[in-house]
Amino acid sequence: MNLEHSIAALATRIRSAASITALTGAGVSAASGVPTFRGSKGLWRNYAPEQLATPEAFREDPRLVWEWYNWRRELIAKCRPNAAHTVLAAWSRRYPRFHLITQNVDGLHELAGTQDVVRFHGSIWEVLCWERCPGSPERWRDDRVPFEEIPPHCPHCSGLIRPGVVWFGEAIDPEVWTRSVEAASCEVFLTAGTSAVVYPAAGLIHEARSRGAFTVEINPDLTPNSGAVDLTIQARAEEVLPAVDSLLLS
Ligand code: OAD
Repeated sequence: MNLEHSIAALATRIRSAASITALTGAGVSAASGVPTFRGSKGLWRNYAPEQLATPEAFREDPRLVWEWYNWRRELIAKCRPNAAHTVLAAWSRRYPRFHLITQNVDGLHELAGTQDVVRFHGSIWEVLCWERCPGSPERWRDDRVPFEEIPPHCPHCSGLIRPGVVWFGEAIDPEVWTRSVEAASCEVFLTAGTSAVVYPAAGLIHEARSRGAFTVEINPDLTPNSGAVDLTIQARAEEVLPAVDSLLLS
């Protein structure tokens, strides 16, 4: 199917769907200037995310891990939502049973005005006490850019704070997991901008399929999930989503 037909096919599905769920990944923020994780451009000082985004890495070298997050926070603070975020935000307001699950921690979906974002991997703008000291809240927003000191310290116990994101080897928040699985029960489940290699997020599309959803992948590259979905649209999210939306509005 060529691109135009794929876009029309997705619009037709969405038009008649009672419920729609979108799962986004780093590729959706690429056009905003946020680097993706994988691929040579995603690397920071030659470290792969799996080497930095773990409790072990933090325990061993909190300064190194915070330098990476501080670099990402400084970069993201300058980024604005792109056309893909804007369309998904419009759908969250237009369709009563629309759900957005994002693996992105950048906050750009929220900035675009998306309602009830399910933050599968947390937020880079939140922090928590590494020691979980009794005086501190479970997590709190901290948008200082840059931090005056790295690694930054807990205002309650003077120990370290850590980013409010899910690291490799850590469990997804049970409430977030429940909301995500519930959202996988839908008529159209589309993923956009994810390499589909990080589980359990990558498994949600299979969950959706097994619950009868029509599944769609939007990504300029093929992923391990490409062969398993009903429709693969091999193009950029910030081009595909506005094109689908103009058909929906026509
Ligand atoms: P990746 O960096 O693994 O993958 C980004 C995907 O976006 C790739 O498949 C690209 O081909 C695709 N892509 C690039 N530009 C695009 C565009 N304009 N439109 C659509 N797609 C585009 O990012 P994620 O799959 O999100 O985890 O990574 C998953 C998780 O791994 C992240 O949430 C993060 C990371 O470690 C945590 O922070 C826990």
